[in-house]
Amino acid sequence: MAAELFSLIDHLRAEKNLTDDALTMLYENRTPETDAYLYAAADAVRRESYGNKVFLRGLIEISNICKNDCYYCGIRRSNRQVARYRLTLEDLMACAAHGYELGFRTFVLQGGEDAYFIDEVVVHWVRALKCAFPDCAVTLSLGERSRQSYEALFAAGADRYLLRHETATEAHYRRLHPAAMRLSHRLDCLAALKDIGYQTGCGIMVGSPGQTWPNLLADLRYMQGLNPQMVGLGPFLPAQHTPFAHQKAGTLADTLWMLAVVRLMLPQVLLPATTALATLSPEGREAGLRAGANVLMPNLSPLSVRKKYALYDNKATLDGEAAENVASLFDWLKTLGYEAVVDRGDYRI
Ligand code: 5AD
Repeated sequence: MAAELFSLIDHLRAEKNLTDDALTMLYENRTPETDAYLYAAADAVRRESYGNKVFLRGLIEISNICKNDCYYCGIRRSNRQVARYRLTLEDLMACAAHGYELGFRTFVLQGGEDAYFIDEVVVHWVRALKCAFPDCAVTLSLGERSRQSYEALFAAGADRYLLRHETATEAHYRRLHPAAMRLSHRLDCLAALKDIGYQTGCGIMVGSPGQTWPNLLADLRYMQGLNPQMVGLGPFLPAQHTPFAHQKAGTLADTLWMLAVVRLMLPQVLLPATTALATLSPEGREAGLRAGANVLMPNLSPLSVRKKYALYDNKATLDGEAAENVASLFDWLKTLGYEAVVDRGDYRI
């Protein structure tokens, strides 16, 4: 069996694809030995695309106010235990200036679907960032908006947009979200973002409640079809005061497996080793890089709000999130054989 799986992995690497049956065989019969082979193949493909570079993005969590009520998410509307906050433009510019000093050339503005952020506001914020830091990329992660809105933000200078699709399977989407939310709308948003010209990121939580292998397979097929420049992929982690507070977390092995397969299917993709992965296991971030990830997203949000942006429990931190530690992040990457990159780290066509 192992020999057969090794040859499937070789085939996946060469062809960037496998049949449903072959992927199922690889998923269901994997062993630590075949996984190690898979991660090595993903690592090799990442090296072919990007050498030993690891791209850094400064994450700024601009608001934890959200109109949605996703069952998994710690900042869902119904969670009354959350102290809500919203940064000001001054806060944002101060975080970005600090991040710029540390060497970051991409800022990711992430927030809940907060009604305050009408187009005029986001356009103003994006313009302010691009004007102060013209050599930086701006990534937005602000949820579902209209095509017109995405166009306005793109025209203002936003370069990239992250919007995880969460699951490509209708029934599973229903298990994770209240009826007011629609998978079709989420997928329309992603198609619009890509069409407008954003470097676009979709993604999922691995091990979310109710997720099955056919769901993961559908996610892989969806990603192949969208061909995004970025994929956000981390384990599901339970969040207190949510309907899924007592559900099991996704596993490290499943998350690494998905990261590696995504790397082999989409060789050029920008793929973060996520905070959720680091929260799941102290070795998570390193293991993610070894399985094909090539992006880290240290948190630049003001310390006063960090704890309030809790999508799940016990969120990990990363060296480099504080000025005095950024050198140690660079050193850490170096000891692992990677090189931290301070440029924008755009997708390679
Ligand atoms: N565990 C892991 N990831 C989560 N997210 C939200 N809640 C959780 C959780 N409990 C992820 C979702 C969302 C992204 C911003 O964070 O995939 O798209």
